[in-house]
Amino acid sequence: MNHEMVETKAWLMGTLIAIVISVGGLVEIVPLYFQASVIAPAPGIKPYPPLELAGRDVYVREGCYLCHTQMVRPLQAETERYGHYSLAGEAVYDHPFQFGSKRTGPDLARVGGRYSDQWHRIHLNNPRDVVPESNMPGFTWLAKAGVDGQEVAAKMRALRSIGTPYTDEEISAAAAQVAGHNELDALIAYLQGLKFHGDTTP
Ligand code: HEC
Repeated sequence: MNHEMVETKAWLMGTLIAIVISVGGLVEIVPLYFQASVIAPAPGIKPYPPLELAGRDVYVREGCYLCHTQMVRPLQAETERYGHYSLAGEAVYDHPFQFGSKRTGPDLARVGGRYSDQWHRIHLNNPRDVVPESNMPGFTWLAKAGVDGQEVAAKMRALRSIGTPYTDEEISAAAAQVAGHNELDALIAYLQGLKFHGDTTP
């Protein structure tokens, strides 16, 4: 009788299905908010220094995430190619995170230190100068645009309001640290900082 009622009333069946699915979702998601390894920074993870923070914004603005992921999956093929798989605690200061879902180019989560600054300078200006078969676009305008120190300081204050632990001293020193740098310098500083900071011994 009850069964027939559920099967003949689409709205009732729909509501019950929604309830069952949400319970499943909640059981998986809610514990994550309380699990220290997910909400605490991974070893060695610190808030971005001012220049890297500015570079991260260039990365987001230019849409690098449309072709590059920053998420090494825990699969052998991935860890052999890129390095240690990504940890949730590495992304705690990323607002928004740059995991991405499309790999036209390689994953960049471990690209820091793989190439020299000079390599990046040439590559970002015209990728084909160093990788002849590359179909990555050149970002020629970055070297011509300056980084605004006041804007970086304002971003740090905004990030602090949502939990990134920048100190007053770090914020007031920000403008001086980015002075004289252009957007290309900032982007390269950001890329060079993308690496595994923790202990790699299993
Ligand atoms: C249209 C897709 C596309 C976009 C957009 C793009 N890339 Fe790439 N990228 C690639 C491809 C393909 C490669 C592999 C060939 C090469 O090295 O140029 C690559 C390679 C790279 C590499 C070398 C990675 C390695 O491990 O060898 C870096 C660093 C990089 N891109 C950074 C960036 C940054 C920073 C941006 C944004 C400013 C960007 N890319 C935007 C497609 C893209």
